[in-house]
Amino acid sequence: MAKILLAGGAGYIGSHTAVELLNAGYEVVAADNYCNSSPEAIRRVEEITGKPVQLYEADIRDSERLSQIFRENKIDAVIHFAGLKAVGESVKKPLMYYRNNIDTTLTLLETMQAADVRNIIFSSSATVYGEENPVPYKETMQRGVCTNPYGWTKAMMEQIFEDAARADPSLSVVLLRYFNPIGAHPSGRIGEDPLGIPNNLMPYVTQVAVGKRECLTIFGSDYPTKDGTCMRDYIHVVDLAKGHVKAVAYILQHSGTEVFNLGTGTPYSVTEIVETFERVNGIKVKHVYGDRRAGDLPEFYANADKAKALLGWQAEYTLDDMCRDAWNWQKQNPDGYRSSD
Ligand code: NAD
Ligand code: UFG
Repeated sequence: MAKILLAGGAGYIGSHTAVELLNAGYEVVAADNYCNSSPEAIRRVEEITGKPVQLYEADIRDSERLSQIFRENKIDAVIHFAGLKAVGESVKKPLMYYRNNIDTTLTLLETMQAADVRNIIFSSSATVYGEENPVPYKETMQRGVCTNPYGWTKAMMEQIFEDAARADPSLSVVLLRYFNPIGAHPSGRIGEDPLGIPNNLMPYVTQVAVGKRECLTIFGSDYPTKDGTCMRDYIHVVDLAKGHVKAVAYILQHSGTEVFNLGTGTPYSVTEIVETFERVNGIKVKHVYGDRRAGDLPEFYANADKAKALLGWQAEYTLDDMCRDAWNWQKQNPDGYRSSD
């Protein structure tokens, strides 16, 4: 079976993808510098699957270290999760974001070329559609104008991959544009473990529910949506991980560059998320309505037809499942991996 390198594999999406790849029979090598994660996540991936992961502590910008990983393992495809992802932080520290995100991509591509590794799948984001495109977003739309440096790194990296593949027809690229991943593995053993105050909605909700935060502020209640709060296409992280397994099967059979949205195609409002979480888990989440957050779009969601047609993938988990599994993870691990036994 093919061997897959997960760059940034100890992170939230990487660890869930490792589980699904191992369950599908692939061998997994993970490399991470743990700047936003813990090796404990990979230990638990092994516990869930009963299978080993070859784990390297490595900065993906370090070409010597990457070359060593490629020398020690015959890698068939790389999935590139390694990057910084906090939108607000990227506005304050743009150079750090450009340096880390672009450098990881360039170093990966260069060392892959030297090691004759021809397949790469990239974690992109719906944010590259920018502000101009109408919803639902389709892969045929042009990338738009991003609202923050994080988004720009994703748009620039997509461009780098496209140019590299155009110059080298033996390089195959799959760009996966994620919508809003939430939830956790149903076992409650792996999940999202943000450092400090969460930027994203669901970890904030679960931390209020578990008593770590006082109150959720819902950013804006005067948007032109059905209840005035923003609408997003939330996708269960296990569905997203399974989308990567399909993308691996696809890239091993196809050449060229292909872009796929990974979303459900159904948007929910912030208020619906809070109400669903409360109903499914039987727990109150204290919340207030506050000002809009700068840069938030009123609504975006995927047209998910292409992934269904070409990858044979579609999301299966419901919003109830996402809320249940997010809470299951948080209540079993109130301090994330730091509450490790
Ligand atoms: P995450 O922070 O949990 O995972 C990213 C991993 O990359 C972390 O383990 C981090 O330690 C590692 N990393 C970062 N820079 C590195 C470097 N230079 N060398 C080695 N490792 C490095 O984030 P995630 O939610 O799992 O996201 C994975 C990818 O998906 C990211 O590229 C992110 O931008 C993208 N993405 C995430 C979302 C989301 O909402 N979670 C949405 C769209 C796209
Ligand atoms: N929200 C709140 N309160 C909070 C946190 C979030 O009301 O404390 C709201 C936001 O205003 C937004 C919704 O919840 O309306 C979702 O916010 P997230 O921060 O969870 O997600 P975003 O849609 O803003 O961002 C996500 C990814 C980014 C990506 C972006 C666009 O986290 O990586 O989608 O694709 F760039």
